[in-house]
Amino acid sequence: MQAVIYERFGDESVLLIREIPTPRAATGQVQVKVDIASLNPVDFKLRSGILRMLGRPRRPAITGKDFAGEITALGQDVQGYAVGQRVFGSVDPMCGDGSCAQFVSVSTDLIAPIPDAVSDEVAACLPVASGTALQTLVDIAHLRHGQSVLITGASGAVGASAVQLARSIGARITGVCGTANVDYVRSIGADHVIDYKVAGWQYIDERFDVIFDAAASTTFSGAKARLGPNGIYVNTMPRPALFLEALMARLSSRQRCVPFLLKTNSALLERLATLAADKVIVPHISEVIGLDQVASAQRRMREGKVHGKICVRVAA
Ligand SMILES: NC(=O)c1ccc[n+]([C@@H]2O[C@H](COP(=O)([O-])OP(=O)(O)OC[C@H]3O[C@@H](n4cnc5c(N)ncnc54)[C@H](OP(=O)(O)O)[C@@H]3O)[C@@H](O)[C@H]2O)c1
Repeated sequence: MQAVIYERFGDESVLLIREIPTPRAATGQVQVKVDIASLNPVDFKLRSGILRMLGRPRRPAITGKDFAGEITALGQDVQGYAVGQRVFGSVDPMCGDGSCAQFVSVSTDLIAPIPDAVSDEVAACLPVASGTALQTLVDIAHLRHGQSVLITGASGAVGASAVQLARSIGARITGVCGTANVDYVRSIGADHVIDYKVAGWQYIDERFDVIFDAAASTTFSGAKARLGPNGIYVNTMPRPALFLEALMARLSSRQRCVPFLLKTNSALLERLATLAADKVIVPHISEVIGLDQVASAQRRMREGKVHGKICVRVAA
């Protein structure tokens, strides 16, 4: 099969399209013919080697995590799935697996069925970005109707899903994004929008029940003056200093600091599928590219030149 691989860490130039063996479905896995993969910042972070402290992906590694496609084979002990069924999910990149490939073999813990009302493009956009928003706002922060939430990176894939979820919950939303995307963030449901290129959100005179720093624009110390007395701060870039801040916050106040690390599972994916079918989450797909454009797309993502999700059409 064809796949976009890298044999060593580095910039986009290490990505190569290669013919490699098609992975077989092991016990508990299904083999999926990938129709669409979607790109996330974690793909270029893993490829560059900056996430080495979280574990080293086996190499040669295939880039990409998220996918949607059709089951082509079942491994032993797989129940509840059938060949021909449309599914979406995320692979575990630490095993060297990746979604920018014609086939993936993946545990049934990391997939869910795609509802008829959801396209493969939309399904492929959900696992990492919308999964992060759902786990943060609902499972960690327990955001409730009438509460206030500030979301940085509100025009990005994670932040926009968070704005849409917070809107469905009935929270009061302040979104933070760049000048070009202010109207978009308002259009998806933010009550107030702060343009970070004009003013830092840390200096506004307001306190929030939840601050979801999807853009990892500050730390707990930088955010806590803007948190209510029981407020919670979630940051998507879990650095050692943030874990220390989380511990200190736990010992010294009722405010909480959470360094976030996504844990994907099939139950989370099923909830995302329902939210997409109900049009609560509507990913903004900026472009659909081919495998030969993955390297240049990762470069543009790394340079902050992409608004929304990039889908990769893998199947001909
Ligand atoms: N820890 C985890 O498990 C986990 C899971 C998923 C994602 N993440 C991380 O979460 C981050 C966001 O992911 P994504 O897919 O949403 O990326 P993305 O689509 O590239 O979006 C990034 C957003 O950040 C905004 N931004 C940049 N600088 C900012 C600032 N100073 N203040 C506020 N907003 C700012 C950009 O706004 P404009 O374009 O409008 O300028 C853009 O909308 C990435 O770093 C990703 O690696 C972590």
